[in-house]
Amino acid sequence: MNKNIAVIRGDGIGPEIIEQALRVLDKISELYGHTFRFTDVDMGGCAIDKWGNPLPDEMLEKCVKSDSVLLGAVGGNKWNDVPSNLRPEKGLLRLRAGMGVYSNNRPAKIWKQLSDASPLKKSIVDKGIDFIIVRELIGGIYFGEHKTENDTAIDVLKYSESEIERIGRIGFETARKRNKKLCSVEKSNVLDSSRLWKKVMHRLAKEYTDIELSDMLVDNCAMQIVKDPSQFDVIVTENMFGDILSDEASMITGSIGMIPSSSLGATKCGLYEPIHGSAPDIAGKDIANPIGTILSAAMMLRFSFDMEKEAASIENAVSAFLDSGYRTADIMSDGMTLVGCRKCGDIIVEKIKK
Ligand code: IPM
Ligand code: MG
Repeated sequence: MNKNIAVIRGDGIGPEIIEQALRVLDKISELYGHTFRFTDVDMGGCAIDKWGNPLPDEMLEKCVKSDSVLLGAVGGNKWNDVPSNLRPEKGLLRLRAGMGVYSNNRPAKIWKQLSDASPLKKSIVDKGIDFIIVRELIGGIYFGEHKTENDTAIDVLKYSESEIERIGRIGFETARKRNKKLCSVEKSNVLDSSRLWKKVMHRLAKEYTDIELSDMLVDNCAMQIVKDPSQFDVIVTENMFGDILSDEASMITGSIGMIPSSSLGATKCGLYEPIHGSAPDIAGKDIANPIGTILSAAMMLRFSFDMEKEAASIENAVSAFLDSGYRTADIMSDGMTLVGCRKCGDIIVEKIKK
């Protein structure tokens, strides 16, 4: 198959981790006879420096016209003082909205090789951690009106029934492919938007009678994720709650550096990115963990290109890397072999088998 992939290296560690993911994709194309064409797209701080805009129109257009987008990370202290509507993160939000990718899928799964890297007690980890957060990505407070007037700042949190329904359906469908348990997370004891959220989820539940739906308040959910993560199969939640809970969920699996994500909308053209940030403090030192990005590339092959075998080859290579005792700094433990970003890429590429 021929596929055009828009590649956003971005800022901080973005370029280093993307480089490893591209080498992995090259190896897949060589083994399976595909052609992946990569087109560089500027977004984030580097685009502000070059174009005075975190995502110029023609860059967004390249992404929308591609078969999918692979993104490293954007942002950094260097751009803290630019006006808020030109921040690097605005480029990312504009990209998500411009591509219409409303459904963000963030897995929290512990690799058996990394059970001792989790900050949770062994007795909790041993019960198993394997759930998915389905996060609404292009609505809510991120996209409501933002303004500051004198000593007062306002951010509007707004959801319509149709916005809730389309992400709710993804939650139910995701649960249907797994253990058929869906937990809808909101703050319906305080927020109108959450009461609407809950109402829509229960209306949908009548169509998905094979799925067990439960409700949980977001503060309780934050607690339950560390108390007993084995209770969760699929969590569906709004944009900002999903942002916060997915950082928490990633940490209990050992490291945020390991977690990939996919974002999809109405078409097969998706946005794939690790869930961590640009980590400017470790940029250029060859110590970042590229695995979240490499696994995001695997998700792209599976969800956007229907290349299940190819995706599994990448995931198996990551598992083989861990089995051989290699670790990047963020997941390092006693008796393991410490490797840098590039070396991690070398070893994973070498372990990819058809
Ligand atoms: C994420 C990030 C972004 C978000 C930032 C960089 C805008 O934290 O992808 O989780 O809040 O969505
Ligand atoms: Mg986040």
